[in-house]
Amino acid sequence: MPDYRTLSLETPRLTLRPLQAGDAGALFGIHSDPRFTRFFSHAPWTQMAQAHELIERDQADLASGEHVRLGLVRRSDGVLLGTCTLFKIQPNNRRAELGYGLGVAHWGQGHAQEAVRALLSWGFGPLGLHRVEADIDPANESSAKLLRRLGFQLEGRLRERWIVDGVVSDSEIYGLLAPEWQTRNQQA
Ligand SMILES: CC(C)(COP(=O)(O)OP(=O)(O)OC[C@H]1O[C@@H](n2cnc3c(N)ncnc32)[C@H](O)[C@@H]1OP(=O)(O)O)[C@@H](O)C(=O)NCCC(=O)NCCS
Repeated sequence: MPDYRTLSLETPRLTLRPLQAGDAGALFGIHSDPRFTRFFSHAPWTQMAQAHELIERDQADLASGEHVRLGLVRRSDGVLLGTCTLFKIQPNNRRAELGYGLGVAHWGQGHAQEAVRALLSWGFGPLGLHRVEADIDPANESSAKLLRRLGFQLEGRLRERWIVDGVVSDSEIYGLLAPEWQTRNQQA
């Protein structure tokens, strides 16, 4: 299995790199905000230990190569804006799932798009993926917009798939295939 603990990707404004122990405070700030977790798969964090646990778990997941979460660090001031993730990486099917999230203060500036584009280039490039999929809450308009801008197609709706804090919600499944990604990027 490949080991991604030293993976680092650069975009015009960001460095994408694995989370480190020193990111715990910023990560807790992001994940404890109910505006951030509204459409996320977990309730708002209440304890700093949750941030430490995620960072420690990530190190093991990066080492096993099944899950690659990278922190989005703004190069101009070193602030951690959020994370983006390829998870459930299945080498046999050359498939992975995509996730992302930015602290509320950093929405609306194109940072998610910039970071996810770099992660997809790596995923469809060196990692050799054929398909990337995303599972989003149908009410998460910003997330749907981001996926459509990157070329994802809406493929279907799965009913009552999530129960977070007693709230039941459907999933919309979006997919993007390697040839579609390559065609878009050759045109760009
Ligand atoms: C989903 C999420 C990452 C989208 O963040 P975002 O900042 O809206 O996404 P983008 O990076 O694509 O930014 C696009 C916006 O920035 C604007 N923008 C400003 N400067 C820009 C620039 N230099 N380049 C590109 N876009 C720019 C765009 O016009 C666009 O605005 P619009 O949505 O009003 O049209 C964010 O809402 C989030 O973190 N939500 C909480 C977590 C979550 O729900 N994650 C998804 C779970 S499936």
